[in-house]
Amino acid sequence: VPKDINLKEAIDKLRKEKNAVILAHYYQTGDIQDIADYVGDSLALAQWAAKTTADIIVLCGVHFMGETAKILCPDKKVLVPDLNAGCSLADSCPAPEFAEFVKQHPDHVVISYVNTTAAVKAVTDVVVTSTNARQIVESFPEGTKMIFGPDRNLGNYINSITGRNMLLWDGACHVHEQFSLEKILDLKKQYPDAEVITHPECKQPVIQVSDFVGSTAALLKYTIKSEKKQFIVATESGVIHEMRKKSPEKEFIPAPPNDSTCACNECNFMRLNTMEKLYNCLKYEMPEIFVDEEVQKKAIKPIRKMLEISE
Ligand code: 13P
Ligand code: SF4
Repeated sequence: VPKDINLKEAIDKLRKEKNAVILAHYYQTGDIQDIADYVGDSLALAQWAAKTTADIIVLCGVHFMGETAKILCPDKKVLVPDLNAGCSLADSCPAPEFAEFVKQHPDHVVISYVNTTAAVKAVTDVVVTSTNARQIVESFPEGTKMIFGPDRNLGNYINSITGRNMLLWDGACHVHEQFSLEKILDLKKQYPDAEVITHPECKQPVIQVSDFVGSTAALLKYTIKSEKKQFIVATESGVIHEMRKKSPEKEFIPAPPNDSTCACNECNFMRLNTMEKLYNCLKYEMPEIFVDEEVQKKAIKPIRKMLEISE
């Protein structure tokens, strides 16, 4: 990156010249969220990718989000500022093992969280995000046998609110699993009027003490609508950027991690993307996401099915 460059202006110029769209997840740093054409949750990112007329999609998020965009738009160039932006949850579900699990349960509908590799999606019947998981699970008649992967916390939560008994893959996200129940309870004492709002990837005890549980977009919407003035936010703290922008008069307290010596309520993968890398990625049109053609053809079906059901 040349010295003295105004990154915001340079990124803006490149995006216009190249007819590129910048899509960012709520867990990106504030500067990336501010420059993005669209900021959203995993479902919104897939929906925008599916309908964009841009030639290039820059997905400021993690690898599986770029893959999902590429699966939906195989003829477009899809870039992610840092290809090392992986996901511990997607990594907790290797495709060969998941395919074997699916094979062992041939009479089950296979539901996969969007936080999975393209190869896992290729052996899936319907993809879900945390925004539409309940709706999609309930779109199947009661009694339907189902597999849900990879997030055991989200799966348990959906089972508990729908009364279903889906078979769960034993995976988890390292960021959401480490929120400390004890520290959240301490914070509740310190801020008795605050509401605890939680992402369903968190463990059950944290979910149980929460006033509201939802996807990043649902949590944001909730903070806008709620009459409360203080919120303890149990998800990756990047989303607080947009919460503060939408409700500057309200107070947002990031839920603390178990280990208070680290910033582990920030996703180290998400935070690999920077403005400098975003600039370079637009300028040099790399790193690019590629998905094997056979895998793409299979994986697009469960993603399209999700988009149809959640329209
Ligand atoms: P949502 O934004 O869809 O709630 O996803 C959360 C997440 O962990 C993405 O990696
Ligand atoms: Fe994956 Fe968790 Fe990071 Fe989301 S927060 S990208 S689920 S590791």
